[in-house]
Amino acid sequence: MSAGETQPLPGMSDLCAPEVFLWQRIEDAARRVFHRYGFTEVRTPLLERLSVFTRAIGEGTDVVQKEMYTLQDRGGREIALRPEGTAGVLRFAADGGPERAEARLYYLGPMFRAERPQAGRKRQFHQIGAEALGPPAPAADAECIALQLHVLRECGLDGFALQVNTRGLPEERAAVSAGLRAALQPRAHELCEDCRRRLETNPLRTLDCKQDGCRAIVAALPPVSSFMGEASRAYLDETMRLLDRLEIPARINPLLVRGLDYYIHTVWELTHPALGAQDALAGGGRYRIEVGGRALDGVGFAIGMERLALALQAAGVTPDAAAARPRVWLAAAGAAQTSDLLVLLQALRKRGVSAGMDLSGRSMKAQMRAANRAGAPWVVIRGEAEASKGVYLLKDMAGGAQREMGLAELLQHFTAP
Ligand code: HAM
Repeated sequence: MSAGETQPLPGMSDLCAPEVFLWQRIEDAARRVFHRYGFTEVRTPLLERLSVFTRAIGEGTDVVQKEMYTLQDRGGREIALRPEGTAGVLRFAADGGPERAEARLYYLGPMFRAERPQAGRKRQFHQIGAEALGPPAPAADAECIALQLHVLRECGLDGFALQVNTRGLPEERAAVSAGLRAALQPRAHELCEDCRRRLETNPLRTLDCKQDGCRAIVAALPPVSSFMGEASRAYLDETMRLLDRLEIPARINPLLVRGLDYYIHTVWELTHPALGAQDALAGGGRYRIEVGGRALDGVGFAIGMERLALALQAAGVTPDAAAARPRVWLAAAGAAQTSDLLVLLQALRKRGVSAGMDLSGRSMKAQMRAANRAGAPWVVIRGEAEASKGVYLLKDMAGGAQREMGLAELLQHFTAP
């Protein structure tokens, strides 16, 4: 077998102890906060019809054009691994009665994007996301941002920066495109090749070009909101005012457009200084998505779990391995004692005590080594001498003291409050 065969695919990772303890902590914290805000979990399939994503996310986006894992199912139908959670959740929302059009849903799970892997950028990554369906309202957007910050703080993170902008309404897109095109035209020859193409197809996309030359040019553009109507500008102002009232520091970044086409009005991104080049920790916004012949409105966000775990570790929040350590390890000499201790092992576990034992018939020495490796503070030994007396030897691994006990006393020792 070649070395490559034992490794996951590029951009994908196995997640195991001790790091998985940090992930579980993040997931528990997120669930706790979501429930407090009245959100319930939804688990949509990892595979969907390709059109679920292309229609919601937009044909012209990088996610759809370059990053989707698409395949054909056995019936020749085009399907894709989900690159993000919103499109599938909205497909689910459209597949039900009117109550789903106002649902508050959250999800945790893997997403797939065929990007060039690098630190903080994976091909299988994980998101914690939430979608609050319902009509546009600055208060709903501010609440959603507050929820996202609450989840991050509950996980133990601070120090992130919030940037906000507006995408306006779909009917304003033509005016925004025309305004940007006109403003960019005098310097079109200085733009990169991609941006010269974008100037014709979708000038908004020039705003998130990564080339230095283009960045300098778009930085001097008037804000996109200046090409929108008064109502869209007022929506952004009201959202910013509410964030201020909630004491959430936020800055308007007039260049923030986000890479997905379903957004309307408020869009935002959270960055964290510990993340380096891939500093986007989380993003979100308000959207309008047409699915099943209906237009559904909502607001939501997604936090990248790999990046959250990185930022937490940089902040000194480390996996709590102690939680997975057994409280007691059992060690038997001989087959008869092994079966006695197997019964005790299960009796302890049924009473809520985490207990471990090596059941493969190894020597007493090897079993004590296993107890040490497992980090159990107590060991229960049963040799022939103890068996003939009907007792167990309880050993304190820290001090080395040991004492004989009957079964009832032993169970009492581990289950007493
Ligand atoms: P997004 O900005 O594409 O938004 O992704 C959200 C977060 O997922 C990013 O901020 C980042 O932390 C993480 N992420 C994205 N791509 C990768 C990658 N290749 N490797 C590691 N982490 C990554 C969305 O997905 C929207 N669905 C968010 C949303 C929900 N908007 C409204 N509702």
